[in-house]
Amino acid sequence: MADLDQNSITDAVIAQMATTEDPRMKEVMESLVRHLHSFAREIRLTPDEWLKAIGFLTRTGQTCTPSRQEFILLSDTLGLSRLVNLMDDKANRMGDATEASLLGPFYREASPKFEMGESIAVHAKGPELIVFGRVLDENGRGVPNASVEVWQTDAEGYYDLQAIDPQQMDMRGQFRTDEEGRYVVRTLFPLGYYIPMDGPVGTMITAQGRHGCRPAHIHMLIGAEGYRELVTALYLGSDQYIDSDVVFGVSESLVVNPRTGVEGSPDPAVPSVHYDFHIARRAEHDKTGRVGADPSKIAAE
Ligand code: BEZ
Ligand code: FE
Repeated sequence: MADLDQNSITDAVIAQMATTEDPRMKEVMESLVRHLHSFAREIRLTPDEWLKAIGFLTRTGQTCTPSRQEFILLSDTLGLSRLVNLMDDKANRMGDATEASLLGPFYREASPKFEMGESIAVHAKGPELIVFGRVLDENGRGVPNASVEVWQTDAEGYYDLQAIDPQQMDMRGQFRTDEEGRYVVRTLFPLGYYIPMDGPVGTMITAQGRHGCRPAHIHMLIGAEGYRELVTALYLGSDQYIDSDVVFGVSESLVVNPRTGVEGSPDPAVPSVHYDFHIARRAEHDKTGRVGADPSKIAAE
């Protein structure tokens, strides 16, 4: 029996896992062990720090509920969600399809259905905003009957899930494009906001001296039969945090600047944004453009 030292331990673990049947699981776990061990050696991880990390991850799990996903938040604030998004977009985004952005932890399935031009602000109050345009295919033709799901904060910077009754939905909804691929969403100006700071991720953000804010944005999930699902968001260019998003979700092509008098707006007196979304055919191997899920659907397998 060979004695293990701080280097040979890595190969010993990988050798023991060599019987893993699933080849992808084998590849992932081998790499994880190599990187984890290198990381521990590089930072000279102490027993105290190791225990602290276990405590942090334990609290992260304990903070998760059907309406809150602290692990996604951790992944977001470490830039991992955006990295997965960027890699998935690079591998599967075709032509000039619109760039993806984070799904985030506040997406909910089965939001209310609205007719073209209706307002998603059922209870919330605040300054009005119109977002309109078309959903276009790879040839610039309108995609009829595409589903356009929208969700955002209210004018005070809260999602409905953070409100007193998280069962009540507001500031979210589903629209369908017309035969020309047009959509019109009436809404309120979203407000930039702090990610949930009352859990372990918030404690980490504070310890790092980060502001913990996301710039104001409107999430969009666009889908149509035979097309790659597009998960994206429009970001308000005037927000003070536009260049320092705590979850790294902003790209330049998704920054908008609402103004009055926009040509084609159903109400040019209301600040409006004209944005056309480009979607692409779905490749056979490509399952989804989503990086994330409704928190209530994330369960241990
Ligand atoms: C959001 O898009 O709302 C969001 C994304 C990541 C972390 C927190 C919030
Ligand atoms: Fe968001």
